Amino acid sequence: MLKKISGVILGVLCLTSTVVAGDMEKGREAAKRCIMCHGVNGESRIRTYPSLKGMDEQKFIAAIYAYRNGEKEGNLAGMMRSQALGLSEEEIKNMAAYFSSLK
Ligand code: HEC
Repeated sequence: MLKKISGVILGVLCLTSTVVAGDMEKGREAAKRCIMCHGVNGESRIRTYPSLKGMDEQKFIAAIYAYRNGEKEGNLAGMMRSQALGLSEEEIKNMAAYFSSLK
């Protein structure tokens, strides 16, 4: 009985984690359009463009939404706003998983 219950709990946990966490492989695919500015593997070569590798997932998601909502100001933020507006929720989640995984 106990085994059965813990099995169910484990199953539910696995299910929710796949829904919540982004898909890294898809994130890598989607991130190709960011390479131009943020570099290969999220390692920027341009000083004013931040590197994205190893960025915390939640911070990444928060930053994208802040750009989308126009909460960040300045020319560079404007550049990022148009990028952020073109992303789906799914892509944002997947890229958050991908960039945070980079060392
Ligand atoms: C045309 C150049 C350009 C492209 C393409 C671009 N970015 Fe950016 N990105 C920037 C610049 C410039 C900043 C810094 C803006 C600022 O100062 O707020 C930035 C900032 C960010 C930040 C915030 C980083 C931090 O440390 O706060 C994230 C996250 C980000 N970009 C994600 C992406 C993603 C994901 C893509 C691809 C879909 C992308 N960017 C494509 C230029 C670009």
